[in-house]
Amino acid sequence: MNWLSPSILAADFNRLGEQIRCVRDCGAQALHFDVMDGMFVPSISFGMPVLASIRKETDLFLDVHLMVREPSRYIKEFVESGADLITVHYEACSDVMHTVTAVRAAGVKVGLSIRPETPVSVLRPFLDKVDLILIMSVNPGFGGQTFMEGTYDKLRELRALIKETLGASAGEGVPRVEVDGGINLNNVASVLEAGADTIVTGSAVFHGDIADNTNRFLEILRAHD
Ligand code: DX5
Ligand code: ZN
Repeated sequence: MNWLSPSILAADFNRLGEQIRCVRDCGAQALHFDVMDGMFVPSISFGMPVLASIRKETDLFLDVHLMVREPSRYIKEFVESGADLITVHYEACSDVMHTVTAVRAAGVKVGLSIRPETPVSVLRPFLDKVDLILIMSVNPGFGGQTFMEGTYDKLRELRALIKETLGASAGEGVPRVEVDGGINLNNVASVLEAGADTIVTGSAVFHGDIADNTNRFLEILRAHD
């Protein structure tokens, strides 16, 4: 089943609780939580205290995206703050296998992300160790950027690698394929058709009529289930 994971980076932080309730009540399956450290990416966003306050208020699946150098330092704190899944960046870990193993050992699901310039081939050793692969369709660090068209080929390449490596393209033991950055109502169908099953979108949901945006996304996702 395709999932919509709206990124709160684009939300109005004066009305965050209200806006989270809105996307949840429309039927979004997850909430995307972009953590930026100003080192791995040039910007700084938010961290554990904000996640903990959101956790108290929602039962949504909390999809935490750590754009953080050496993320193994923060696994315990993000688990305690309420993460359901923690995605780390391949490029940010001195020992990727150790880090993804440590996330799972902490009792939550684990995702592994690659930046646009990182080839899909680096993911091969991790496909049976993670619950989600995140293909960045923008350079991480900011919302509101333009979708990078090369993502479509990366998605098709990833689906082929998953099939070749795991012997199946969906189901038990096959990671979700999430895409993040520059996704809107005009390109989301193409992103799904290229192989994604989990859609992160920030500005295309939280800017304008949030309920209408969310419902339109969910309609397209359901039509591609
Ligand atoms: C970028 C973040 C994305 C971003 C998506 O570094 O990882 O999740 O918030 O925002 P939009 O959908 O506006 O590109
Ligand atoms: Zn993100």
